Amino acid sequence: MYELIEISLADTQRLLSYKRDLDLEIHLNIKGFDYGWVLNSVEWKPEMKILDVGAGYSRLPLHIARTFGCEVWSVDDFGLGDDGYWTRNQDPNAYIRENSEVKYILEKVGDSQNSSLPENYFDVIYSASALEHIEPSQVSGVWLHLSKILKSGGLMLHALDIAFPTSRRWPHVLMAVVFDVLYPFLPKSIRTKYLYETPKSYVRHIAKTIDLNTYSRLGEIGIVNMVINPEIVTEPLDYTLNRMIKDGDETARYFRVGSLQIALRKTIKEG
Ligand SMILES: C[S@@+](CC[C@H](N)C(=O)[O-])C[C@H]1O[C@@H](n2cnc3c(N)ncnc32)[C@H](O)[C@@H]1O
Repeated sequence: MYELIEISLADTQRLLSYKRDLDLEIHLNIKGFDYGWVLNSVEWKPEMKILDVGAGYSRLPLHIARTFGCEVWSVDDFGLGDDGYWTRNQDPNAYIRENSEVKYILEKVGDSQNSSLPENYFDVIYSASALEHIEPSQVSGVWLHLSKILKSGGLMLHALDIAFPTSRRWPHVLMAVVFDVLYPFLPKSIRTKYLYETPKSYVRHIAKTIDLNTYSRLGEIGIVNMVINPEIVTEPLDYTLNRMIKDGDETARYFRVGSLQIALRKTIKEG
């Protein structure tokens, strides 16, 4: 069972405060927000065991290990066995050898039967711009796996990139609002297929998976707020363009995205 600590959308005020107050260099984009939010959401102590899910070549797990002295793990297969997306620019094995403060596990989460991640082990499990890459049909399995390896009393902190419905023009915004209203009446197959459609639909999906009560809090991440609140962070165009070039695929087109934060505490031991 889980206690909901926070669900929110990234906003410019917090982004600026992270940039001002934190030791890590915070870039003014979604990843900068996510790193600031993770760093700011935990009272870091050296005895803590931390897991970054989908870290890739992120500097965040290294920063946490070096700054706070925690035992930091990272689980990511670096695209090995897939299309080489993450291996194009750098050899993951060389990177892992150079950064031995972090324990890198070359796996994907989601298959608890065949995972080398220890159960009931981590005090904090976090991710930044990673969980939205998981196929809708595998999202429940991933959350159940993460839940198994988190200690009782441990924290889950996940920041997911979430597409703005305005990227597909106004009729789509209306559809997203209607989708959230009709959600309780939709068949499970439709809910699962479109679980990334709105921040609410994602949170509702995981709430059902891991036994989380969200009833009074979903308003905080509604579509109308997301679209008209000028404080909500959207990733700026220049970064989107840089990212297209960085990933080496100039034909790719990205939606404008915001960031959804979910912070939970595990309250009782898994049966
Ligand atoms: C956009 S990258 C995010 C990188 C990193 N978090 C950062 O801040 O730079 C998404 C990462 O998620 C990883 N990933 C996707 N599905 C995963 C899974 N089931 N388990 C672990 N990692 C996964 C991918 O391999 C990829 O490295």
